[in-house]
Amino acid sequence: MAGNRTFTMIKPDAVGAGNTGAITKMIEEAGFRIVAIKKTQLTPERAGQFYAVHKARPFYGDLCAYMSSGAIVPMILEKDNAVEDFRKLIGATDPQKAEPGTIRNLFAKSIEANAIHGSDSDENASIEGSFFFSGLERF
Ligand code: CMP
Repeated sequence: MAGNRTFTMIKPDAVGAGNTGAITKMIEEAGFRIVAIKKTQLTPERAGQFYAVHKARPFYGDLCAYMSSGAIVPMILEKDNAVEDFRKLIGATDPQKAEPGTIRNLFAKSIEANAIHGSDSDENASIEGSFFFSGLERF
């Protein structure tokens, strides 16, 4: 059975452009409840840990530099079928391939600076959420 939580973070391009409020509004209007939220900034080392699964990819170094270049807004979200429904809401990784009306179609600048992250499985949603939040901060 699909789980009811996912993890997201609004990335430095979208936070820096002042789109945190607009994106958060779209998330809530799509039926997701915000369980935890904060504004923070990753060091390059922490970004490297978060994206360790992509270590062998040619874009890994640039991705870690980019993800530590400014503030981010990580969140834990709740909704039935959360992981799949949230990935539909954000659209494809490459904003040029993202469906009209998706968050990346509306706000992303490039395949790297693509506005927002969404977990790709229930297991990763749990791992990624725990990277930023401990149990006491959830409500
Ligand atoms: P995200 O969904 O957070 O997961 C991995 C990230 O790596 C992705 O969003 C993009 O920000 C980045 N990424 C994925 N593919 C590429 C690529 N081909 N070139 C540069 N960055 C990429």
